[in-house]
Amino acid sequence: RRSIARWALLAVTVCTGCQGPQSALSPAGEGAEQIAALFWAMAIGAGMIWLVVIGLAAYALRIVPQPHDKRSSRRWVIGGGVIVPTLLLSILLMFGLAILPALVRPAPEGSLHVEVVGVRWWWRFIYPSPDGGSFELANEVRLPVGEPVQFDLRSADVIHGFWIPSLGGKVDMIPGRQTRLTLWPTAVGTYRGVCAEYCGASHAKMAFDVVVMPREEFDAWLRQQAQDAIDPSEPDARRGSEVFLKSGCGGCHAVRGTAADGSIGPDLTHFGSRHSLAAGSLENSPDNLRRWITEPQSIKPMAVMPGYHTLSDADLASLIAYLQGLE
Ligand code: CUA
Repeated sequence: RRSIARWALLAVTVCTGCQGPQSALSPAGEGAEQIAALFWAMAIGAGMIWLVVIGLAAYALRIVPQPHDKRSSRRWVIGGGVIVPTLLLSILLMFGLAILPALVRPAPEGSLHVEVVGVRWWWRFIYPSPDGGSFELANEVRLPVGEPVQFDLRSADVIHGFWIPSLGGKVDMIPGRQTRLTLWPTAVGTYRGVCAEYCGASHAKMAFDVVVMPREEFDAWLRQQAQDAIDPSEPDARRGSEVFLKSGCGGCHAVRGTAADGSIGPDLTHFGSRHSLAAGSLENSPDNLRRWITEPQSIKPMAVMPGYHTLSDADLASLIAYLQGLE
C-alpha cells in the first residue's frame, strides 16, 4: 500500500510541476501554446516509438534461437533503420516549420515596445511613457492582455536569456547586439520570467515578475509608473529619504523626482509597488528588505550591492518605511 501512495505522490508532483506561474506547459500566450503543443506531440510520439521498440526487442529475444534469415534482417534494417526514422523526423520537421512563423513574427506597427537590458543579475525595463518620452523600472514587467508586445533585448555585460515560459519562447540577449521577441499574452495573471542562459554566480537569482492585466488597468499603471516619486508625508518615511541620500544609495539607484539619480543599480522610483525584490529572489516585504539591505551577498552571491550592516536600527527602519512607501 505504501508503494501505491508513493506512486500517487509522484503523479501529483509531476502534474503540479506542469502548473504554476513559470511553466511552458500551462500556456498563457500564443507562442507558449504552440510550444506546449509541440512538446506533447513529441512526448506522445516518443512514448509510442518506445513502446514499439520495446515490443520489437521482446520479439527479437523470442526468435533468436531460430535460423538466421538474411532477407528478413535486411528488411528490418531498411525499414526500421531508414524508412521509419526518415518519415518520423520529416513529420516532426513539418510540425516545427508550421509553428515557426507564429514564434518569430514581428509585432504589428503601433504595438507596445518594451526595451529590456539584462544586467548581472537583474533586469532593466524601459517603457514608453504616455507623454512621449520613456521611463525605467526594474525586475517587473506589466503587459495588456490580448495585445502583442515587442521586447527589444540588449545585454550590459554577458549573454543572458530572456524567457517567460508561460507566454512564449526564449531569446538570447547578446552583448553589442539587439535581439527581438514578440509575445502575445492571452490570459490575465501573474507569471514569472527567468534568465535562460548561464551568466555567473547568481544566474539562478535573475528572475522577474510578469503581470498581464486588462488594457484599462495597464494604462492606469503606466501613467502612475511614468510619474516621479511623491515626497513622503509620513515622518518616519521622510527621515528614511534622508538616510537614503546620506548613505549614498542615490549613487547607484535613481528615485525620479529626488536627488538620487544613480544608474548602476535598479531604478527604485515605484519600488513599493513591486511584487518581489532582488530580481525575483524574495517577496517584497519589510523583513526581506531588511535582509537585502544588510546582507545582500547572502541572498545573491557576488551581487554589486554592498551590505549596509552598519546602519543603526532606527535608520534601517526609516529607510525601509521610505522604500516600501514608494508606490
Ligand atoms: Cu543572466 Cu543567467
